[in-house]
Amino acid sequence: MSVDINTRIIGTGKYKAEGVLTNHDLEKMVDTSDQWITERTGISERRIAPKDVATSDMAAGAVKEALDMAGKKPDDIDMIICGTVTGDMPLPSTAAMIQKKIGASNMCPAFDVSAACAGFIYGLSVADAFIKTGKAKTVAIVGTEMLTRFMDFEDRNTCVLFGDGAGAVIATADQSDRGILSTHLYTDSSLTAALQIPGGGSLEPASAETIANRRHFIQMEGREVFKVAVKYLSDAAETAVKANGYSVDDVNVVSAHQANMRILSAVSKRVNIPLEKFALNLKYYGNTSSASIPISLDEAVREGKVSENDLVLMIALGGGISWGSALIKW
Ligand code: UT7
Repeated sequence: MSVDINTRIIGTGKYKAEGVLTNHDLEKMVDTSDQWITERTGISERRIAPKDVATSDMAAGAVKEALDMAGKKPDDIDMIICGTVTGDMPLPSTAAMIQKKIGASNMCPAFDVSAACAGFIYGLSVADAFIKTGKAKTVAIVGTEMLTRFMDFEDRNTCVLFGDGAGAVIATADQSDRGILSTHLYTDSSLTAALQIPGGGSLEPASAETIANRRHFIQMEGREVFKVAVKYLSDAAETAVKANGYSVDDVNVVSAHQANMRILSAVSKRVNIPLEKFALNLKYYGNTSSASIPISLDEAVREGKVSENDLVLMIALGGGISWGSALIKW
C-alpha cells in the first residue's frame, strides 16, 4: 500500500427536503407536546420530502451539489458508495439508481453500505481504503434517508424523532498531507433488537399479517440505545484523536450524527470538546440517520465554519449497534 496517497474531501452537497413537519403539527397527530420533544431531544421540526421524490433523488441532488463544489463531472467519479437503510427498494442498490440519476455513463461500481446512522462513516472508510490502495481515485460517498416513510405515525416513541434528507461528499486521491487521517469502525451485536425494522426481510417476509402488525416501521428501544450511545461515541472520539497523536483541544469542528441533543451534550462534556465546536442542525432536521453528518458538514463548509488544515472529527452511532469515527485534516 502506498503511503503517499491521501483521501481528501474536495466537495460537499446536500438535499434539503421541502416539507416541514413541526412539533406543533405532531401534537395534532399523537399524544405528545412541543415541550416534551424539545426538552428530551432538541428537535423543533423535521423535513419531509414530496411524495414523488425517492431516496435516490435526494442522494442525486446532494451528489450533484458536491460535484459542482469539487469542479468534477459525473463521469469523473469512479465509485459511488451509498449509506442508507431506507433505500428506494431492496433490489437493486440505491447507489445504482444514483449513478443513473446523476447522469454518469462510465459504469463505475456503485453499492450500498448498511450501517444505519453510521452508514456515512462506514462508506467514507470504505472509500478511503479503495483510494489509499490505488483501486479508486475519485469516490462519491452519500448518506440518504427517507425515514418518514418508515415511520409509524401512531407511535410517539419514534415518529417525533426522524426526518428526510441527503448529504454527499466527493473524495479524491491527493498527494498533500491533508485528508482522512483515520477511520475506526465498530459493531456491538448484543443490541440488534434495540433499533430495527423487523418486517419485510427474509425473517419476516412481507404479508398481510406483517403489515397489520406494523412490522415495516422503525421500532426503537430509545433508552437502551441512549445508554450505550454516550459511552461508545465518547470512546470513539477519544480513540480517533489519540490514534493520530492529537489532543481533544486540537479538534476544530465536530461533525456528529445528531439523534438527540442530550447525547451530544453528554459526549461534549465527557470528552471535553465544547458544544460550540459541533456542527449542529438537529433542531431543524430531526434525526436523518446516515444523512445527518454529510448534511451538517455541508452546511458548516458553506457557512465558512471549516477552514483549510482544520481538524474535523466525525462520530456516528446507530442500529446494529454500529458506530465509528473519522478524523480529517481538512
Ligand atoms: O439515531 C440512531 C440512534 N438513536 C439514538 O441515539 C436515540 C437514543 N434515544 C433517545 O434519544 C431517547 O431515548 C428518546 C428521545 C428516544 C426518548 O427519550 P427518553 O428520555 O429516553 O424517554 P423514554 O423513552 O425513557 O420515555 C420517557 C417517558 C415515557 O413515559 P413514562 O413511561 O415515563 O410514563 C414515554 O412513554 O416519555 C414518554 N414519551 C413521550 N411523551 C411525550 C415517549 N415519547 C414521547 C413523546 N411525547 N413523543
